[in-house]
Amino acid sequence: MEFSHIPVMLNETIASLDIKENGIYVDGTVGGAGHSTEIAKRLKGGKLYAFDRDPDAVKVASDRLKGYNATVINANFFDLKYELNNIGVDKVDGILLDLGVSSYQLDNGDRGFSYKTDAPLDMRMSKKGESAADLVNNLSREELARIFKEYGEEQFSYKIAGAIVKERDISPITTTIRLADIIVSAVPSFRRRDGHPARKCFQALRIEVNHELDGLTNAINNAFDLLKVGGVLSVITFHSLEDRIVKKAMKEFCTGCICPPDIPVCVCGRTPRGELVTRKPVVPSTEEINNNKRSRSAKLRSVKKIKE
Ligand SMILES: C[S@@+](CC[C@H](N)C(=O)[O-])C[C@H]1O[C@@H](n2cnc3c(N)ncnc32)[C@H](O)[C@@H]1O
Repeated sequence: MEFSHIPVMLNETIASLDIKENGIYVDGTVGGAGHSTEIAKRLKGGKLYAFDRDPDAVKVASDRLKGYNATVINANFFDLKYELNNIGVDKVDGILLDLGVSSYQLDNGDRGFSYKTDAPLDMRMSKKGESAADLVNNLSREELARIFKEYGEEQFSYKIAGAIVKERDISPITTTIRLADIIVSAVPSFRRRDGHPARKCFQALRIEVNHELDGLTNAINNAFDLLKVGGVLSVITFHSLEDRIVKKAMKEFCTGCICPPDIPVCVCGRTPRGELVTRKPVVPSTEEINNNKRSRSAKLRSVKKIKE
């Protein structure tokens, strides 16, 4: 299957990074190299380091970035600092994180991310570790319900988890469509009017399988530390849980004095290390949403480092 993914807010994202032709740039989520190619094109004497935890994406991106001064690395961007330090890179001019999954991962039946295509219930971006089937067949009803509620904001989380536990006692749940059918049968019919009833639970399972939120704050902090003064960190999120984490971390970089308001002179000595590139998140235009439905929930936030 061809690796196809339309890069979201391409122009806005590239503009946010304010690329210097001799700079060092990092794409932590290279995917199909849509954003990366545009970064790499703008470099003369500069260098791009592109990361992805998915070996399929690394293969495709390596091919697409041939001919540019770019190195593609199969690693989790949570380990960006370690990976870059390992190859002698201490500071960079810009970092992009385009979170979540690619259209290729969603649409490729084999990967098990989609409730629309029958496939083994996998969902592992890195193809390593516990799969969605491992979780669905082994976690308690309470744990499953928590995941569906916390990461999917699923109203019928406990009911759905109960139906899963009942069904897996008959035989293990190993495919996407069987799980989707169990979810559909567990929720009231009105839920069918509001998109596919399995959408939220599939998102929740994917987040849990890939530990997408567990270390995100740390990863954002580490990415910001890696920036030179004047460098920019841009992050594209696709759901409110991710966006909340990114917004909070960026606000923290931009916070100065934290002394209580009744103290006349600052004693904490804290000054902001960052400055927001745009006060509000950038969102896709109506035209982009019409051309690419998957962009509809995207938000781009960028912060510039102004002090070490
Ligand atoms: C939305 S896609 C990126 C698309 C890319 N910007 C493009 O233009 O083609 C997200 C990519 O990030 C990867 N990914 C998600 N979380 C990751 C992580 N923690 N570390 C490394 N890669 C990650 C996924 O495997 C996927 O390929």
